[in-house]
Parts: sequence; C-alpha cells; structure tokens
Amino acid sequence: MSDWSLAIDFGTCFTTAAVRVEADVAAAVEIENSRYLPSLVCLDDDGRLLTGRAAVQLAAQWPERAEQHPKRALLRQSAVLLDDREVATVELAAAVLTRVVGEARAQRGGTAPGRAVLTHPADWSPGDLERLVEAAGRAGVDVPELLPEPVAAARFHAADARATGDREGGGDRPIAVYDLGGGTVDIAVLRREADGFRAVAVAGNPDFGGRDLDQALFELLRDRALDLDPEPWRRLWADPAPAAAHQRAQLAREVTLAKESLSETGTVYLAVPGYPDRFVVQGGEYREAVVPALAASVALLERTVVRAGLTPSDLGAVVLCGAASRTPPVADLVGTWLGRSPDLAADPKAAVALGALADLPAPPTPADTEEATAQEATEQEAAASSRWTVAHYPDEVDPELWF
Ligand SMILES: Nc1ncnc2c1ncn2[C@@H]1O[C@H](COP(=O)(O)OP(=O)(O)OP(=O)(O)O)[C@@H](O)[C@H]1O
Ligand SMILES: [Mg+2]
Repeated sequence: MSDWSLAIDFGTCFTTAAVRVEADVAAAVEIENSRYLPSLVCLDDDGRLLTGRAAVQLAAQWPERAEQHPKRALLRQSAVLLDDREVATVELAAAVLTRVVGEARAQRGGTAPGRAVLTHPADWSPGDLERLVEAAGRAGVDVPELLPEPVAAARFHAADARATGDREGGGDRPIAVYDLGGGTVDIAVLRREADGFRAVAVAGNPDFGGRDLDQALFELLRDRALDLDPEPWRRLWADPAPAAAHQRAQLAREVTLAKESLSETGTVYLAVPGYPDRFVVQGGEYREAVVPALAASVALLERTVVRAGLTPSDLGAVVLCGAASRTPPVADLVGTWLGRSPDLAADPKAAVALGALADLPAPPTPADTEEATAQEATEQEAAASSRWTVAHYPDEVDPELWF
C-alpha cells in the first residue's frame, strides 16, 4: 500500500490538488509553479487534449478549440464541439484529472497514491458523481473517495483551528461554508458528526461567481471608454482579425488581474487599445458596482442558516472559501450579518483540497448527533427548493475569451 494520499478539487475555473504523506500535514501540489491549474482544456493540431499553460496559450489564439469550463460541461451535457470534433465531456474532465494525477505521481517518485479523494459540489446528483468517477477512472484513479466541497472546507477549518491553537475553533457547533468560486457560489450549513461533517442545508447559484465580478469591472472600464470616445472601443469589438481577437483576450485577462489586485490595492490602471491614456479604476467604484450581487449571495447564506433552523450565534464559524471570496466586501458583508469576523483561510481556494485530507479534532457528543438526525428530513426538503438565481450581466464580451 502506497504511503501517500491525493485529493483533487476539480473546479469550474481552476483545479487544486493536495498530497499527504503518511501522517504529515497535507500540502498543495504545484503544477507549472502554481497551486491553481486552469481547468480549461484545448484541442491541439494532433487531436490531443492539452491542459495547463499550453492549453491557455492555444485557447487564446483558437477559442473555438477550447472548453473553458469542463466541470460545468460535465454537469450539463455529454459532449461538446471543439473546433469540428465532438469530444465527450467525461474526456475533458479526464484530461484535467490525468494532468493532476500525473504531476502528483511524478512528485512522489512515480508511485500511485494509496488513497484518492475527489471533492464535488454538495448538490451533485448520483448521475453527476458517476460521470466524475468515470473521468477519474480514465485518469487511472479507479476507486476514488467522494467528498462534498463544503465538507472538505469545514474539515480544513476544524483542523486549522486546532493546529493554530484555537482549541474552541467553533467546537462541535454547526459551521456555515460560503464558497465563491469562478463560476458559482455554493453555500452549506454543516453539522459535526462522529466521523466528520454532514451538510444539513445547501444552496447556491450556479450562474454567479468570480467571472461576474470581472464583468462588473469590465463594464466600468467600457463606460469610461465610451464616455471618452466610443469609436476606438467599437472598432476593437467589431474587428474580426486575429490580432484584434488577441487584444480582446489580452484585455479580458488584464481585467481579471486588475479585479484580483483590487483585493489588495486601492487603484488599478488599464490600457485599452486605441486610447492614448490608461484608464484608472478606484477600488471604491468597483466595490459599489459589485456589492449588490455580493449582498444577494450573503442574503442567501442568511436564508440557508435560517432554513437549517439556526441563528448566527449558533454557528461555530462561517468559513469563506473559493478564491473570489478574497474580494473585500465578501468578508465585510458576512461580518456585518454575523456580528463578528468570518474565517477566511490564507489560501481560500486550496482549503477544499487540503481539507479533504485533513484529520479532524475529537468528535461531538451523542446528543448533538441525535438532534442533527431529527432535523435532517425538513432541512433536506428546504435545501431542494433553495436554488437562487441572479440576472447575468449582459454578455458584451465573447464568453470564450474569459479566463
Ligand atoms: N485575490 C483575488 N481576489 C478576488 N478574486 C480572486 C482572487 N484570486 C482569484 N480570484 C477569482 O476567483 C475565481 C476562481 O475561484 P476558484 O478557483 O475558487 O473557483 P473554482 O473552484 O474553479 O470554481 P467553482 O468552485 O465555482 O467550481 C476567479 O474568478 C478568480 O479571478
Ligand atoms: Mg471551487
């Protein structure tokens, strides 16, 4: 039996993996110097499915050959058209998982992991999970363990609280997880049980995530450019030449980078082809633009906690995960509702993969477990009707160009 374990958080936009050797603490796997492998897959000239940097580079030139979001495609359809070839979505997912497994194995002397855990959204159906397991099989992982993403995040929080000497760490009280990823926001309320955490209420919006925040910043930039002079902007978006497509893709990447930078800094500058000067966007304007949608996502968190029959003071912690939860208004909005600061991990994206391999502190008392079981039926019923949708920002940018 191999001495190491692997966990993979296959994300809509990025995939993160963690490795744990025997009883050591789990560590994130670096691929191409990053803990975040783009989940994008792109078909090359020889009909191979590329991943990582090579896929990103090719997709920037040939967006029609790329599937930007294989996880979403796996959920929604059995095949996609890449260029003129039909590719099974299980193959797309398998390409990403194969890359991750291969990189992790290479870092462990070529041996196979003794245990492999795949995380997944809490609301995936048995059929969705079957397709994920099939993709894992094609990546050489025959018997993966499956773990809901918020359960993994809660495990990370509990283990991290213990490791940092926070003995209380929420104790055995329920935990709420707010996960703002690239394409979705997922919320779960979990109760501690003898062998881990169990989701008792889940909700989310499959159509709201970090890329909508990109779109908000893009619209601020667009409005500024149109106010100054609409002509260069119109030319940039109307030009069918590859060079203009490349400029648009480049601008989209810079908008994403600027959005991420606004989590750290107060001002960003963006140059737009055709305009002599850089445009300036202040953090305050960006926050004003994104707060309504983020507030709606936090209102959903509140409703989910209510559906679970709880109040903020019942919660041991509210764990923020997903890389987009670094956006400052998220912690502010959650903190205002909660009456205290939520828990934002140092690396909120990696928390899911790391948590999937984390050990848990001591289990709760039997009384807590009985109470949880009694509430289960009503809570699951509530969860089933808890889907939330917000209007998408208008799609001025070709979605293929994003990420
Ligand atoms: N520092 C940052 N500040 C704000 N947003 C960020 C930051 N870093 C990354 N993001 C955004 O986080 C999003 C990606 O989040 P993440 O990698 O957690 O998603 P995912 O796991 O792929 O998606 P999902 O959980 O929806 O399947 C992107 O929109 C990215 O731009
Ligand atoms: Mg995620």
